[in-house]
Amino acid sequence: MRIGILTGGGDCPGLNAVIRAVVRTANGRYGDSIVGFRDGWRGLLEDRKVQIQNDDRVDRLLAKGGTMLGTARVNPDKLQAGIEQIKQTLDDNGVECLIPIGGEGTLTAARWLSDEGVPVIGVPKTIDNDIACTDVTFGHDTALSIATEAIDRLHTTAESHQRVMLVEVMGRHAGWIAMNAGMASGAHLTLVPEEPFDVDRVCRMIKRRFQHGDSHFICVVAEGASPDPASMTLREGGIDEFGHKIFTGVAQQLGAEIERRIGKEVRTTVLGHIQRGGAPTSYDRILATRFGVHAAEAAHAGESGKMVALHGTRIDLVPLDEATKELKRVPEERLREAAAFFG
Ligand code: F6P
Repeated sequence: MRIGILTGGGDCPGLNAVIRAVVRTANGRYGDSIVGFRDGWRGLLEDRKVQIQNDDRVDRLLAKGGTMLGTARVNPDKLQAGIEQIKQTLDDNGVECLIPIGGEGTLTAARWLSDEGVPVIGVPKTIDNDIACTDVTFGHDTALSIATEAIDRLHTTAESHQRVMLVEVMGRHAGWIAMNAGMASGAHLTLVPEEPFDVDRVCRMIKRRFQHGDSHFICVVAEGASPDPASMTLREGGIDEFGHKIFTGVAQQLGAEIERRIGKEVRTTVLGHIQRGGAPTSYDRILATRFGVHAAEAAHAGESGKMVALHGTRIDLVPLDEATKELKRVPEERLREAAAFFG
């Protein structure tokens, strides 16, 4: 059998571990041949590829961040318009099943292909952890560990200077990194896209904490968090590839507003792409490897239109239709649990 593989969207620690596991299982165990397409869907639109075998180079990929295939963000309209070209490239290369590894955009494109009768098995990736139908995506644990370590460090310097520290973490549409890193590092407040925040309330919490004699205030801000428009207006930074508004530097803007309103010294740290780079944690290496093994087995068994997913300790196959209906956001219950530690 001939299997195609690509990595699409933003990169994420663990992508190489999935590629290694697919190659090891499909090529090493079953003797399938593997063609990797370069730079995500662009490689399929432009027929740029590489033959991959179960060799030493692939075996050494496990702990390596990034993706050996390269990745790119492709505008969904361009992608939809290019579906015929993509099908042609798959045909020309004799691909019998495609394994796209990616987030919302990549998995949605995978569903379009599957609707057109192309055999596809998706693998969910994103540090944001916002893909539905799977308990977790690989990459999230690594980003979370990096964010937690950074916030631990900010606690000590904030304490020494009696400062308010804002830490902006990734998460445009869901606040999983912010929520989990905030809880893991004992932050005094976490702001997420799921719940608009009230700047007056944030200022009151900070004032109260210092009045009680506490020495510092750490607030984790997801990059997609936004204020209740009645309490503050954020400057917009454009529109993302899915047509959603992006606000630039929410933490910077909030920091300036807090200083203006209560005269407290604020420092802001934006963790940015540090959260996405470097080696995956052990947890992500294992999850990515298990996803890769199951994706290769599903492709080899003739499954299609499915995505590998973690349910408890099991890896299952779920319909791509279900997985791409909507993003997985932080539920009410997690917001309530976290709020017990605020202030
Ligand atoms: O989707 C993953 C992610 O890291 C988001 O958390 C972040 O908003 C976005 O990608 C950044 O994208 P880019 O690397 O294109 O700037």
